[in-house]
Parts: sequence; structure tokens; C-alpha cells
Amino acid sequence: MESVGAMAMGRQGSGRPKVSVIGAGMVGGAVAQYLALRDYADIVLIDIVEGLPQGKALDLAETAPVLGYDSHLSGGNGYHDTAASDVIVITSGIARKPGMSRDDLLRTNMGIVRSVTQQAMEHSPDAVLIVVSNPLDAMCHVAYATANIPRERVIGMAGVLDSARFRTFIAEATDVSVEDVSAMVLGGHGDTMVPISRYSTVAGVPITQILEPDRVKALEERTANGGAEIVSLLKTGSAYQAPGASVVEMVNSILLDKRRVLPCSVYLQGEYGIEGLFVGVPVKLGREGVRQIIELALTAEESAALLKSAAAVQDLVDAMARLDAEAVSEA
Ligand SMILES: NC(=O)c1ccc[n+]([C@@H]2O[C@H](COP(=O)([O-])OP(=O)(O)OC[C@H]3O[C@@H](n4cnc5c(N)ncnc54)[C@H](O)[C@@H]3O)[C@@H](O)[C@H]2O)c1
Repeated sequence: MESVGAMAMGRQGSGRPKVSVIGAGMVGGAVAQYLALRDYADIVLIDIVEGLPQGKALDLAETAPVLGYDSHLSGGNGYHDTAASDVIVITSGIARKPGMSRDDLLRTNMGIVRSVTQQAMEHSPDAVLIVVSNPLDAMCHVAYATANIPRERVIGMAGVLDSARFRTFIAEATDVSVEDVSAMVLGGHGDTMVPISRYSTVAGVPITQILEPDRVKALEERTANGGAEIVSLLKTGSAYQAPGASVVEMVNSILLDKRRVLPCSVYLQGEYGIEGLFVGVPVKLGREGVRQIIELALTAEESAALLKSAAAVQDLVDAMARLDAEAVSEA
């Protein structure tokens, strides 16, 4: 119990779980916004740009009285306030700019993800890490190698977003509520992702039994192209609302120990015949991170598509090793 005088002196420690979002850009801001609305966690936004995380946090704090949440929001440029976070979300990185090669982007984002992971983990060694920065599966490798924590605590966000896109298109095509649609997208987050229509359903019925094959194929292709479709419409940026909400779905399952089964990029050690790579597969998410990797029975064709997608992740991992070796030889 505290006196009214003490209360008037300012907010005391809340006792709520703490989520730190590194990178207060479009996706980071959306994560903070959707998470604040859930009203059970305190949120720290961090960015290298001075004023950006502070401004976004203050704006969201000033939204709280209107929308009625008590999540505490703060922003900063150092990691002090992130100490003892339960979950750390990494959204820092740059987008590919005109004239920039894939290697340039990979080199820059590797450096950023390595540096923020190291600093964030120093202050929160027990946190669960959710990686969002692209190229997603490759950045999961960087975070995992840097954090040096069990694989259960490094999880990439991509499948929740990709399957949300698939659900949107299925609901549209079948004229039903999105709530009655579930979808499964496996593989790396890129052109080679693998929407699995046999496991994508309307009220439990696979869409392969509802829609003509060419219609199913068109929905799968639109899903695989989902990120590019938004970029071509927005012209000056990429999707952030659905990505932000998808991260919050994962945070919820972790912090509320809901044990949702969600497709996420995780480090496979033999599951699905894949060894030593981050690839998107369904996992059960709870308080400690990944509680279980769920192995779906796949047809030969689905399995081949998943292995092809894993090979694309391997190419990026190889490219990162080459860039690291070049950096060492240049030093
Ligand atoms: N996994 C997915 O499904 C998915 C979906 C959408 C976006 N993304 C990726 O998420 C990332 C963020 O996207 P965005 O639209 O928010 O970009 P953005 O440019 O709006 O935000 C990125 C932020 O990172 C910050 N930043 C850069 N270096 C930093 C560092 N060293 N420390 C702290 N902050 C740093 C920048 O200042 C910027 O504010 C991109 O890599 C994007 O490709 C992934």
C-alpha cells in the first residue's frame, strides 16, 4: 500500500512483463501500438535515431487515456531501460535502396542485427528473442549465433504474417469470415515460401476440396507475392500493420503461455529432414519460447518445395559466411 503522496510522485514499477522493441520504425511502432492495446505488458522502444523512439512512445502513452490501457511506454537510444525484458523484438535494419546489391543489404543488416542482439542480450540474458528484420531467416541465424542461447528462445516472425495473408485471400475467395479460415505457410520468408493448401481450411474443410485447383494456385501465388504486392502499392515503404500485429500474436502466445500453434522460423535440427537452418514450420509457443516443433506429414511435392526453400536459406547463410571471411581478410 502506498500513500497518495507517493502515488503523486510518479509511476512505480508495474510488475507487468516487459517487451523491448529494437528499431522504432514502421514495424516497431506498429508492434508497440498493437501490444499496448492488449494492456498487459510494458513496452520499451529503442532506435539509433534520436527522438524517434521517445516520440513514438510518448504519442502512444498519450493515446492510453483515450483508449484505456495502462501499458507503460518509454523510448530511448541506449539499452539501459530494456534491462530484464521478457521478450525482445528486433525490427532494426534498412530496406534495400536503389543501386544496392543483395550482398550490400545483407552485410548492413547482419551488422545491425549482430550489434543490437549483443547489446540487448547483455541487459536481458533470459529474454525470448523475436527476429523480424529481413532477410528474415538469415537474420535469425545472426541473432542465434550472437545471442548464444538455446534454440527455443530465438524465433523468426514470418509464417504468422504469410498465413494471415493467405487467410485474407481465402476468406475473400470463399466469401466467409476470416475467423473461420486457418492457413499454413511453411518455408523461408521469400519467393520460395510454401503455402500448404491441404492444411489450409474453411471451417475445418481443406480449401483443396472447396476451390478449383487453378484458383488454389492463384491464392498460393498471391500469398508468396504478398510483401511485394504491398510494396508496389505503397511505393515508398513496405507492410507494417499486418507484420506488427503478427509479432504481437507471437508475443501473446509467449507471455500469456497460450501455447498457440503458429508457423515461425526456428532452428531445425533434423526436423523435416533439415539440419542446422532457420526455416518456417509450425511450432507451439509458450512462456519459454518454442515448446514443440510440429512435424506435419507432407506429400513428396510439398516436401520437395520445403527443401528447395531451405536451400534458399542455406544460400544466404553461405553468403553471410563469405562476407564475414572477406571482412576478416580486409582487416
Ligand atoms: N519478417 C517479416 O515478415 C517482415 C515484415 C515487414 C518488415 N520486415 C523487416 O523489418 C525491418 C523493419 O521494417 P520497417 O518497415 O519498420 O523499417 P523502418 O526503416 O521503418 O525501421 C527500421 C528502424 O531501424 C532503425 N535502426 C537501424 N539501425 C539500427 C540500430 N543499429 N539500432 C537500433 N535501431 C536501428 C532505423 O533507424 C529505423 O527506425 C526491415 O528489415 C523489414 O524488411 C520483416
